[in-house]
Amino acid sequence: MRILVTGGAGYVGSVSVDRLVEAGHEVTVLDDLTTGHRAAVLEKGTLVVGSYGNADVVGPLLADGGIDAVLHCAARSLVGESVADPAKYYRDNVAGGVVLLESMRRSRVQRLVFSSTAAVYGVPDATPIREDAPLRPINTYGETKRAFEAAMAAYGSAYGLRSTTLRYFNVAGATETRGEDHDPETHLIPTLLRAAEGGGPPLTLFGDDYPTPDGTCIRDYIHVSDLADAHLLALEATAPGDPRTDQPLVCNLGSGGGFSVREVVDAAERVVGGPIPRTIGPRRVGDPPVLVAATDRAYDTLAWEPRRSSLDEMIASAWEWRQRHPGGYAE
Ligand code: UFG
Repeated sequence: MRILVTGGAGYVGSVSVDRLVEAGHEVTVLDDLTTGHRAAVLEKGTLVVGSYGNADVVGPLLADGGIDAVLHCAARSLVGESVADPAKYYRDNVAGGVVLLESMRRSRVQRLVFSSTAAVYGVPDATPIREDAPLRPINTYGETKRAFEAAMAAYGSAYGLRSTTLRYFNVAGATETRGEDHDPETHLIPTLLRAAEGGGPPLTLFGDDYPTPDGTCIRDYIHVSDLADAHLLALEATAPGDPRTDQPLVCNLGSGGGFSVREVVDAAERVVGGPIPRTIGPRRVGDPPVLVAATDRAYDTLAWEPRRSSLDEMIASAWEWRQRHPGGYAE
């Protein structure tokens, strides 16, 4: 397949691009490099610097039958920022996304895989969370992802778009060559590894009074390589005539198990071989106590299963990447 990957210079996108190329596909990366890194794009891959929300950029890329499928990973994805600056999130995640959909429609590109999020569920009534659980996002980020999912479904019934939506839970880990390098960094694992290196303040645990066994939030962590495998399978499922995407297919991607923040810190201390400085702080606004995925649908429909679901292995791979790239992707 010839695949356009938006956000292919980002954390999840770059690992997915490597996986697609390894599987023999021809990949073009479209990334505006506001959060992605030029150095994260495969040396022999094609990088187009620009926005999927700009029809003048994305239109020509899709025209003339040059692309069979789109993997749409690019997005604004900071929960706190989305609440403070919703305009940016509606503009890029929703309006920009519709520009991409329109460009695909005009060029008759009918296959799309979309990076969505557990944030579309908000605070779930039941755990593990199934894909048919009510969508009640509690922040603008989740709202904009839900809105784009709805747009894709409408394009499916009206114009024949074949799509798979992948709702990621907590992505972690690194490959030998690609890792997590965000600025600002808000995620638990890179933040605690930075504290372990002594390169940042002590880790603040956001709340220890949640209704969970040790009082800290429980999340479902998934290795970024496992996520990349799922993207490949999801793209294959959008093939013309494949009954799995006669209706929009939506799959959670998690390991199906939960770890508390304290358990993550304990695992990280095992990996780095020493104590991680930490303090207890107040709860962070908008953090649900427990988010764990029901993953049977991804197993059943995509024949996908996580191969690296050990938390220690995820943290160890992230730690190794940081040791090898002390400045991240510094360009
Ligand atoms: N946490 C801390 N201290 C930190 C950072 C995080 O205690 O410095 C805690 C959080 O409160 C949370 C857990 O660690 O309980 C995981 O936090 P992350 O920020 O790593 O991840 P989130 O669960 O907040 O975010 C993930 C995805 C988002 C998605 C969200 C849905 O990364 O894209 O789940 O709720 F929106």
